Amino acid sequence: MRLATPTDVATLGIPGQDPRGFQILEGSAGDRAIDMTNLRRQTGLVALDYGYNNTASCESAITYLNGEKGVLLYRGYPVEELAEKSRFVEVAYLLVNGHMPNEKEREDWSMQLNRHALLHEDMRHFFSHFPDGAHPMAMLSAMVVSLSTFYPELSQNQHHVGDEAIDKAAARLLSKLRTIAAFSYKKSIGEPVVYPRHDLRYVANFLNMMFSSPVRPYEIRPEVVKALNVLFIVHADHEQNCSTSAVRLVGSARVNLYAAVAAGICALWGPLHGGANQMVIEMAEEMAAQGMSPKEKIERVKNSKGAELLYGFGHRVYKTYDPRAKIVKKACDDLFRALDVHDPLLDMLRELEERALADDFFRERHLYPNVDFYSGIIYRAIGIPKEMFTVMFALGRLPGWIAHWKEALEDPRFKLQRPRQLYVGPGLRHLAPDEVVRADRAAVLDAR
Ligand code: SDX
Repeated sequence: MRLATPTDVATLGIPGQDPRGFQILEGSAGDRAIDMTNLRRQTGLVALDYGYNNTASCESAITYLNGEKGVLLYRGYPVEELAEKSRFVEVAYLLVNGHMPNEKEREDWSMQLNRHALLHEDMRHFFSHFPDGAHPMAMLSAMVVSLSTFYPELSQNQHHVGDEAIDKAAARLLSKLRTIAAFSYKKSIGEPVVYPRHDLRYVANFLNMMFSSPVRPYEIRPEVVKALNVLFIVHADHEQNCSTSAVRLVGSARVNLYAAVAAGICALWGPLHGGANQMVIEMAEEMAAQGMSPKEKIERVKNSKGAELLYGFGHRVYKTYDPRAKIVKKACDDLFRALDVHDPLLDMLRELEERALADDFFRERHLYPNVDFYSGIIYRAIGIPKEMFTVMFALGRLPGWIAHWKEALEDPRFKLQRPRQLYVGPGLRHLAPDEVVRADRAAVLDAR
């Protein structure tokens, strides 16, 4: 992995201490960082950075994004170009392996994804023990961590696991997560599962497992396959976002890939992160049910002092239009035209976007549509229920999680992640007499 280039030195002046120099590093895209790895050892102080807004947790060669310019590159390729000219399985290979697959690599990859599509039959029975209405993200995380019981070869200390085992686990997980997602949907609607087929490519196989049934053939429309490929591609990675950071942090304890990814799934579930695509549709449905106009909604958000959010808007990094939102919006228009679909919620979202972009409240706060604003409308048009929207996000994000887990494992500086804190609790104190009684009394109670 290429390393950042040492350039100048930043000098930190702390009262009572000699000025200290800290190396400034420059990344391959020109971004710069101050290497604070030895800050505490040199100064006795730690850096406090709520939300890690100003903290780089690692050097990474996977994805570059520029929040001010709205740039997103996967291994150097613009996401716009990949969404238009590539397919999700190739982009997954690119993220995990660092280059686009040649013809032989593409065939091997496709064969591996096919070979690993089935779940162990014992795992299929897990679904029948989840309660009706179980959220698919809970099932997804439970099933993924369970894979480590069926495929224990990655459970040992990761340093001793060769590349071949990791690549096999990557292909296995990419293929099986798609099957788990479809099975969890079938469980939620009480239908029998549909097994993967070797004659169908990745996305078509997923659609067939989701929507075909013994009594109802499903026509796999190329326009739908194209739209899902685009959606999976734009979700495939996004550098150190919340769920990817969870995968890296859990992975730093040297757990196996499945456990680290299960942690990422749980982080993605949150409504401020991957759960936002479901929240956007629920927000629009609530507006429709209450007869609330986009104009009224915008005013409510502005006057709520942060209590009411315009879901699908805003981003921790993008302070301009999320480039993925533009791609998803176009995919939405293309699909609706092809399927001749009309959804009043789409009209509502379009007017919400138009009003928000023209409103100083949003502009002053650099709030623009993010990847979640239009994705749910596409899933709705395909027939995917909103409870599955974040599962769709996880299917797309999986290659990014795997790539970061693998990159971290290969980084010699990648240590157990253990942030520090600034303690503001009570000083040293001892048990008061009546507290000792309580402790003694507790011992007596325990003895009963
Ligand atoms: C994803 O990190 C990634 O890369 C994530 C992701 C990925 O691919 O992995 O891109 C996927 O998670 C996209 C984001 C999806 N989440 C949402 O759509 C939920 C709604 N958005 C907000 O929760 C919010 O915008 C965040 C959390 C996404 C980002 O918020 P920040 O950068 O922490 O900004 P902030 O919370 O400090 O807000 C700044 C101001 C505040 O107002 P003031 O206190 O200055 O008056 O903007 C306001 C906020 O109240 N604000 C919003 C808002 N988002 C921020 N007000 C209304 N609606 C919103 N959506």
